[in-house]
Amino acid sequence: MFRFALLLTLLGSFISCGDSITDSPDPTVTMTVAPAGADSSEIWQQQCGVCHGAAGEGNRALGAPALTQLSSDYLARQLTHFINGVRGADPKDQAGHRMALSVALLAPSDIPALAAFISTDLPPSRPEATRKGDAARGKDYYTHLCSACHGGNALGNPILGAPALAGASDWYLKSSYQSFLDGLRGQHADDVYGAQMARLAPALPDEDDLDDVIAHIATLPPKRS
Ligand code: HEC
Ligand code: HEC
Repeated sequence: MFRFALLLTLLGSFISCGDSITDSPDPTVTMTVAPAGADSSEIWQQQCGVCHGAAGEGNRALGAPALTQLSSDYLARQLTHFINGVRGADPKDQAGHRMALSVALLAPSDIPALAAFISTDLPPSRPEATRKGDAARGKDYYTHLCSACHGGNALGNPILGAPALAGASDWYLKSSYQSFLDGLRGQHADDVYGAQMARLAPALPDEDDLDDVIAHIATLPPKRS
């Protein structure tokens, strides 16, 4: 089977969380690329696990979030958006850009099965808490500002395209929210769902309030556990 090694040199610093990261990972990730039509588990092992963790549990130092709590529809949409330049095209979006470069060689026809594999076949992960906040205070904000789209238990709403937030890496909730606030995500003309989140994000501009909301989300169990 034909395979070639791809050396991804990750340019730029590893600031991906909006706050300082003490880990200093080797800024070079080596991965092989599975041929189009390969088994999803093979694609995962060769092209994804190196950053997202072998079981999809995420890797904070690389800014790669946990994925197993997400629906296959949402995963497939994001992968397509990264490939088509709808998400992560802007080099200022450092984490998104790294991810976009990583999937540039992924065959679109492999996306549906790969998304289903991540959503159902990888073991459910429960990322550890890395942030602090007042969960009780955050619950109020969550209920008023977020639950209408992301659901009362933060399990997402497929009809509205809103992903599950329960079970997400807490540092990623922060950095991805910030990327909407900073105009790095949800601005592309074809990003219909991203635009909805980008319009909502300024409703909670204060970092402490967001930390409280994230602390509340961290108390909610993911769809698989
Ligand atoms: C070089 C490291 C790297 C590799 C390899 C990589 N990713 Fe990522 N991925 C990232 C980073 C960093 C982000 C966070 C982007 C952001 O913050 O916007 C990300 C984000 C994602 C997201 C968006 C998650 C969300 O909640 O919106 C999905 C889905 C994803 N990756 C799937 C994959 C899959 C599937 C593969 C393999 C085909 C893969 N990634 C390979 C680094 C990587
Ligand atoms: C109007 C509906 C709506 C509301 C209200 C809303 N969101 Fe979202 N949110 C979305 C949609 C749709 C997406 C998916 C965007 C995409 O596809 O890129 C999203 C994405 C996100 C993401 C990125 C998740 C990921 O995996 O990358 C975070 C974090 C987030 N929302 C947090 C919040 C928080 C916190 C609140 C409340 C303060 C909130 N949202 C309120 C619709 C909404």
